[in-house]
Amino acid sequence: MKSCGFCSQRMNGLHPDPDPPSGICESPGSTASPFRMSGEEQPTVDTEQEQEPPAGDGGEKVVEQEVFTYRSLVLTGYGGYDKVRLQLKQGRPAPGGGEVAVRVRACGLNFSDLMARQGLYERLPTPPVTPGMECAGLVEAVGEGVEDRRVGDRVLVVAKCGLWQEMVLAPADHTFPMPEGMSYEEGAALPINYVTAHMMLFHMANVRAAQSVLVHMAAGGVGIAATQLCQTVKDVTVFGTASASKHEAIKEGGVTHPIDYRTTDYVEEIRKISPKGVDVVLDPLGGSDTQKGFNLLKPMGTLIMYGSANRLSGQKKNLLAVAKTWYNQFSINALSLMHANKAVCGFHLGYLDDFDLTAQVMNVLLELYAQGKIKPRIDSTYHFEQVSDAMRRMQERHNIGKVVLLPEPKPEEDQKESQKDDKNEEDQKNEDPKEEAKQEDAVKPEES
Ligand SMILES: NC(=O)c1ccc[n+]([C@@H]2O[C@H](COP(=O)([O-])OP(=O)(O)OC[C@H]3O[C@@H](n4cnc5c(N)ncnc54)[C@H](OP(=O)(O)O)[C@@H]3O)[C@@H](O)[C@H]2O)c1
Repeated sequence: MKSCGFCSQRMNGLHPDPDPPSGICESPGSTASPFRMSGEEQPTVDTEQEQEPPAGDGGEKVVEQEVFTYRSLVLTGYGGYDKVRLQLKQGRPAPGGGEVAVRVRACGLNFSDLMARQGLYERLPTPPVTPGMECAGLVEAVGEGVEDRRVGDRVLVVAKCGLWQEMVLAPADHTFPMPEGMSYEEGAALPINYVTAHMMLFHMANVRAAQSVLVHMAAGGVGIAATQLCQTVKDVTVFGTASASKHEAIKEGGVTHPIDYRTTDYVEEIRKISPKGVDVVLDPLGGSDTQKGFNLLKPMGTLIMYGSANRLSGQKKNLLAVAKTWYNQFSINALSLMHANKAVCGFHLGYLDDFDLTAQVMNVLLELYAQGKIKPRIDSTYHFEQVSDAMRRMQERHNIGKVVLLPEPKPEEDQKESQKDDKNEEDQKNEDPKEEAKQEDAVKPEES
């Protein structure tokens, strides 16, 4: 069994068939294993129901177990969208000392979940494993020694993985009370995107009044968070790259200069507006874009490398995109940095093991939310059984803001509707087989 070291999620024996047929699959006899920190075996509390004995059996009481089940998304192997499956786990999760049990109402989908599905995100344990780094829900039980959380509290939960489940266990200090007025969807959309953006802008780059910031993927979760946080500082200019169809939305959200990176050279566009370049570059792309970002920095400027989205191209791992990104990856020695008067930083929340830092930033962010200074933008919500559609939406670049997953089952009427939609889509694809291939290949233009 491999563990992410942070959540020590125990998957042993949970998924007897790592590649079950699609749809919901039960894991019979499995013990509950939602996210938790300790390495101990997970206690479970099954409800027992006494029933009247059947007539003529001598009168002994038959005790029948009513097994508690909960829905969980499981990455069953690396590959396409169908590798994430909905499974039913058994046994009511019981919090240990210092823990709470949370009934999850909404979970965040992150770009790293797409990378993880292709085997490109090394912070997730090997499958079968439940992904999910953020969720929002209701405290359903508290363990011994927990004093500052009560049953019924609305909380956000942050973890390295394991939160795409209807029930999770978490250390109480990894949960954060939700401010009044915050929806579960907003709660699930806040932690990863906003902590990342906040730490980069204010802990690493120290953005100050009248500076300029280049935000790539400006219509995505981190992009929108970074744009909103830039607006908490006076007169900051934001250059934001995104597909043209998203420009109106990001401009409304605070991007000063939206740039369509698909049809124009963003370096040239920025130089036209600001010949000296920019003070801060947030780089989630990697490959040749890091070099471009570095060149765009003004003296005393800071580039923060925090992702390599260029490695993702198509539904399954694309070795050419991975190799090309690696081959073009920017590197620099310290002496050249000194001569350039520039800073290059790296940020990766998944590798930040000091949770106190994350907690401090979470508290600042929740205060900013309460003051109305930040507000996650929800692009769309999908029930667990629609997780493929959710991933597809992000991967095919349709989202503006956060894609959120809902553990609760999709209402039956909606299911019928979507079955109809799926059938129509299927019929269309059968009529035009090229359409599906076209969608799969919806990738960014070639890197130079
Ligand atoms: N280091 C960290 O701790 C950390 C934490 C969170 C996120 N990140 C990184 O931040 C970046 C944004 O993450 P997010 O969760 O906020 O996702 P997101 O921005 O919502 O991702 C989807 C959007 O990214 C754009 N995009 C650019 N390249 C893409 C590609 N190769 N495939 C699909 N879409 C692409 C598309 O918008 P357009 O149509 O506008 O191109 C798409 O709609 C990712 O690189 C992620 O790995 C890093």
